Amino acid sequence: MRVLGIESSCDETGLAVYHGDAGTFDQVLHSQSRLHDCYGGVVPELASRDHARRLLPLLRQLLDKAGLHKGDVDAVAYTAGPGLAGALLVGACFAQSFAYARNIPAIAIHHMEGHLLVSLLSVPEPSFPLLALLVSGGHTMLVRADGIGSYEVLGQSCDDAAGEAFDKTAKLLGLAYPGGAALAELAEQGDAEAIELPRPMTTPDAPLDFSFSGLKTAVANAVARRRRSDGALADAERADIAASFQAAVVDTLVHKCRQALQRTGLERLVLAGGVAANTRLRATLKTELAETGAELFYPPASLCTDNGLMIAYAGWRRLSRRAGRARASRPVLLPTEVYPRWPMESLGA
Ligand code: KG4
Ligand code: ZN
Repeated sequence: MRVLGIESSCDETGLAVYHGDAGTFDQVLHSQSRLHDCYGGVVPELASRDHARRLLPLLRQLLDKAGLHKGDVDAVAYTAGPGLAGALLVGACFAQSFAYARNIPAIAIHHMEGHLLVSLLSVPEPSFPLLALLVSGGHTMLVRADGIGSYEVLGQSCDDAAGEAFDKTAKLLGLAYPGGAALAELAEQGDAEAIELPRPMTTPDAPLDFSFSGLKTAVANAVARRRRSDGALADAERADIAASFQAAVVDTLVHKCRQALQRTGLERLVLAGGVAANTRLRATLKTELAETGAELFYPPASLCTDNGLMIAYAGWRRLSRRAGRARASRPVLLPTEVYPRWPMESLGA
């Protein structure tokens, strides 16, 4: 079965075909980061319009790259939430129209489940039950996964997500949107112990939830104190702030993972979502988990940030099971439903 995946929940238009029988895939991606950069964040209406402009050319490009015709696609998977309502609607309408025209099933995929399931492409594949740390621009979650669709959210962000905190700090340091990867690069030249920053909610009895807005304020204060009279920051100070901030986020995430593993007795940790591309986070988790005996799994960095493959693959995993096939619809055109807020625990098999 070949599943076409369509991701359009935010500012990436990602399309992929996953060929389940062969375990192979092709994908194409367009990032809107340059479109939104001058606004310092995603402008939802611009995002929707750009998805609408890009989807058809990207589909043609994908089919050419894969050497496929439209008729070779057996099912369509699309992101139905969570995300920006307009952006989701563009992808969902496109996916459902394609499925309707070809008379093939369409399946709605939860964006965070896509992030989680794409890590199952790791070799060796992690088996359930497992703990997942899902860290993206919009979400920070610790999830116990007992199987596909069987999720318990053990902790989540009370305010800013980890990626959002990276992006806002990057903006303070004058880096372009989205600044997570650029901040991580800048941090390599800095001293992670130069500035004392809090590790929020890390006392032994703290819940497994996260809160990064206080850390963001502490960084803003540190930046304000260091600005020169012309408002600029010295290069070395910028690097130290980036390194100290990154260390605070990484320490907090690692601490929470250790606590969650200890409390649940789980022995496998999957790291996924855009922030999972962070090399310090990956390396620190590897070292820390080696002491506990738990195994760590994560996708390659290019599959951590949003992409079409995570949706195609999640669609294929669900459609290959009977319960998943029942969930897929032979689409009738409109109304198309999307879920800008969609609790992961409500998914079911
Ligand atoms: O999963 P994702 O691509 O989009 C959402 O679902 O939100 O995650 C994007 C987030 C952004 O906040 C981006 O700055 C962050 O992931 N990110 C990183 C790195 N690469 C991307 N954060 C820290 N270090 C990185 N290397
Ligand atoms: Zn994402």
